[in-house]
Amino acid sequence: VVAVADLPYPITIEPGALDTLPRVLGEITPRNRIVVITDENVGSRYGHRVAGMFDTLPSGQRRVLSVPFDESRKTREMWSMLTDELLSQEYGRDTTLVALGGGVVGDVVGFVAATYMRGIPCVQVPTSLLAMVDASIGGKTGVDTPAGKNLVGAFHPPVAVIIDPALLSTLPKQHVRAGLAEVIKHGVVADAGYFALVSERLRSALVDSPDWEGWTLIIRRSVEIKSGIVSQDERESGLRKVLNFGHTIGHAIEAASEYSVLHGVAVAVGMVIEARIAHRVGLCDASVPDAIERVCAGAGLETRFRGDVDQVLRFTHRDKKARGGHVEYALPVRIGEMAGADRGYGIPVADDIVHEVLTA
Ligand SMILES: NC(=O)c1ccc[n+]([C@@H]2O[C@H](COP(=O)([O-])OP(=O)(O)OC[C@H]3O[C@@H](n4cnc5c(N)ncnc54)[C@H](O)[C@@H]3O)[C@@H](O)[C@H]2O)c1
Ligand SMILES: [Zn+2]
Repeated sequence: VVAVADLPYPITIEPGALDTLPRVLGEITPRNRIVVITDENVGSRYGHRVAGMFDTLPSGQRRVLSVPFDESRKTREMWSMLTDELLSQEYGRDTTLVALGGGVVGDVVGFVAATYMRGIPCVQVPTSLLAMVDASIGGKTGVDTPAGKNLVGAFHPPVAVIIDPALLSTLPKQHVRAGLAEVIKHGVVADAGYFALVSERLRSALVDSPDWEGWTLIIRRSVEIKSGIVSQDERESGLRKVLNFGHTIGHAIEAASEYSVLHGVAVAVGMVIEARIAHRVGLCDASVPDAIERVCAGAGLETRFRGDVDQVLRFTHRDKKARGGHVEYALPVRIGEMAGADRGYGIPVADDIVHEVLTA
């Protein structure tokens, strides 16, 4: 267990950590009934193993629910379906939910836990790289609506997070690469040494490697960076905005593609473009976008923008971070440091500059 920053919940990060789930639950919510909720991809691989961990508990005390999940089912309907299922089985406040899966499962199950009987404990067991280094940390939960992603939700920190890097062995490679975009982002916004370490490891073919100790090192530092930032800014009023680096353009690319482009894939392009914007407005020198581009390419991520410039520009205005007609960006001054510490890290940038960089 690593005590990360000032987080009030324990985070375990080690190969094989999945097997600590019963022990962690026994320590944190010893008398509770347990409902593990997972998606079918993850459930078909790990559901049996997890169910086996609770064999000694009476059957009314534990359950593994495997549900078909994907981003299109990260909805209020899924939230109410799961809630109704728990209600129909008469689960009470003495229930702990375990979210076993990627960010979609974590967000929905976290939101069910946030609202069930006004809030019950939730343990996050992230199984995708993105969920390990990002979605499971920080306590944001929620669902999508037709009006946009993540528009309905709650802050509901987990009671524990269990990260088992060896679960990445079954994660499709495109999702490994997408998760690496957030890892790279953490280096850019907070830690040049980490950025260098990640680029070094990527040169030695990390993406395809079952070097779980190496992965553990990377995931741990990423978790430290994210949790360090959110613990200083739980409600997203300032510092947390640095985590939005690459995301203003990234979200616009995702939305313009009608979400056919994976989040991390869009964020990689977004980071390169936004770093070029930072250079264009004189915040950093050209070596910053160049270095980001190199590391993203090393991770097998696309770095060139190929979409419709005007459409993407329009979508940047829909992002919830847009304010008073100006779109605010989180921009680097160098690798490891973001601009605008004195004004909440949001740098307003005029559309014509963004347009110029997107078309360059
Ligand atoms: N709450 C937050 O702070 C936060 C932060 C970032 C992202 N998110 C959310 O996270 C979601 C994206 O998460 P994601 O990228 O994990 O997507 P995801 O949950 O859809 O998982 C990606 C795919 O990988 C599969 N999968 C996951 N783990 C696996 C494993 N170990 N082996 C085999 N297959 C596995 C899943 O079934 C899915 O098909 C988005 O909805 C996003 O909004 C939330
Ligand atoms: Zn992201």
